[in-house]
Amino acid sequence: MESTLLHDIGLLVTPLEMEMNDHRRPVYELQKAAVWIEDGRFKQIARSEELLKSVPASVTRVHAQNKLMVPGFVDCHAHPVFVGNRAKEFFLRNQGASYQDIAAAGGGIHATAERIKTSRVDQIVRESLPRFHRSLEFGVTTLECKSGYGLTWDSEEKLLIALREIAKVVPQRLSKTFLVHVVPAEWKDRREEFVEAVMNEMIPEVAARGLANCVDVFCEEGAFTVDESRKILQVALDEGLSITIHANQFGHSGGARLAAELGARSADHLEYLSEDEMDALREAGVPGVALPACVFFMGTIPYPPMRKMIDRGMRIALATDMNPGTAMTESLPFCMTAAAIYGKLKANELLWAVTLDPARILGVSGNTGSIEAGKYADFSLWSVPSLESIPYFFGQSGADSVWIEGAEVFTGEDSVKRY
Ligand code: NIG
Ligand code: FE
Repeated sequence: MESTLLHDIGLLVTPLEMEMNDHRRPVYELQKAAVWIEDGRFKQIARSEELLKSVPASVTRVHAQNKLMVPGFVDCHAHPVFVGNRAKEFFLRNQGASYQDIAAAGGGIHATAERIKTSRVDQIVRESLPRFHRSLEFGVTTLECKSGYGLTWDSEEKLLIALREIAKVVPQRLSKTFLVHVVPAEWKDRREEFVEAVMNEMIPEVAARGLANCVDVFCEEGAFTVDESRKILQVALDEGLSITIHANQFGHSGGARLAAELGARSADHLEYLSEDEMDALREAGVPGVALPACVFFMGTIPYPPMRKMIDRGMRIALATDMNPGTAMTESLPFCMTAAAIYGKLKANELLWAVTLDPARILGVSGNTGSIEAGKYADFSLWSVPSLESIPYFFGQSGADSVWIEGAEVFTGEDSVKRY
C-alpha cells in the first residue's frame, strides 16, 4: 500500500463539500498542516504536530517546506487540441477588425479547421501536448477538452482520437466534450443538412464509441441559432450525454435561456447577461462559467457580471477557454486575477470557482475539487504565504509542485519564495 505523510504545510486552504450550498463560499484554512495520503487518496488531514506523532513510522514522510497547499484546480472549459497559430489574427483584431469579420473572411475557427484537415493524428497530439504540460504547471489537475476545430466528421473524429491518445500520456484527469462549433465552409449552403448530420450521425457515433461524455454548441449569431442548438442538444440528452452551451458571448443570443430550459450542466461565457437571464439560470440550478482570459484577450466584449451573478444566487466557475483564437493561455491563475479585478470576486470565491464548483460541473466532485478524506490527493504547493497571493502575483509562473492521486507529477525548478 502506497502511503505518504506530507507535513509542514505552511497553510492548507480548501472548500468543503458540506458547504456546497453556502453562497458565502467559505473556505477551510489550517496552518501548520499535514495530509496523510494512502493509495492515492487523502486519508487524514490534521495539524502537522499531531500526524507526525500518530502516523506509523513506516509511512514515507515528505517535508512541504511551509508552502501553501490548495486543491488541484479544475479547468472546466478549454479547447487545447488544435494545430497552428493565429497570432496575426490577434493583431488584426487589435487594429480594428472584428472577430466576425475575420471569420467571414475565412479566418478564425475556419482557419484552424483548415489546418486540422491536413494534419495527421500524431501531429495533432505532438502540437497539443505542451499545452497540457503548461496547464499542469499552473496547478490544473482536471481539464475539460473540447473538440470543435474539425467541423466535418472526418476531422472531428481525428481530434477526438488525438484526445484519446493524449489522455493516455498526460497525468491530468481529462473530461471530453464534443463541440458543435460552426457550420463547415463546405456545408455553407446546406446548413439544415449539416444540423441533421450532427444529430443523426455524429452525436450517436460519439456516444456509441464513448469519444466524449458531453456535447457543447456555440449558440451565437454566425454559429448556431437557438432552435438548431436546442435540437442538437436534445439528441445529446437522448443519447445519455451531458450538455453545455457557449452562450451570450457577443449578445443576448438566447443561449443562456436555452441552458436553463434544458438543464445544461453549465452555461459558459455569459458576457451579456441580464438579471432575468441570471434568475432563469439560478432557478434551473445551472451554473455559469466565466472566461475572463477570453474577454481580456479579445478586448472588445464586457466581462460577465460576475459579482452580480453571485449576489443573485448563481453558482459560478472560472475557466481558461484556452484556444488559439480568443484565449491563448493555459493560466487559470491569470483568470483568477482578472476575476478579482473585473468581477470583484473575493479570494474564497475564486478558490471555489476553480476547484469544487467546476468539479461539480464536470461530474467529478465526488473524487476531486477539495482536500477532504476519501477524495483523490489532487493538489498543488505554492511558494507564497496566502491564498490571495496566487492571483496577486499575476502573470508569473505557477505552482511549485503538482500532485495527482498522491503522485508528484510536476516539480518546478528550485522556486524562489514570493513573499
Ligand atoms: O470559446 N466562442 C467560440 N469558441 C471559442 C473561440 C474559438 C476560436 O476563435 O478559435 C471561444 O471563445
Ligand atoms: Fe470556448
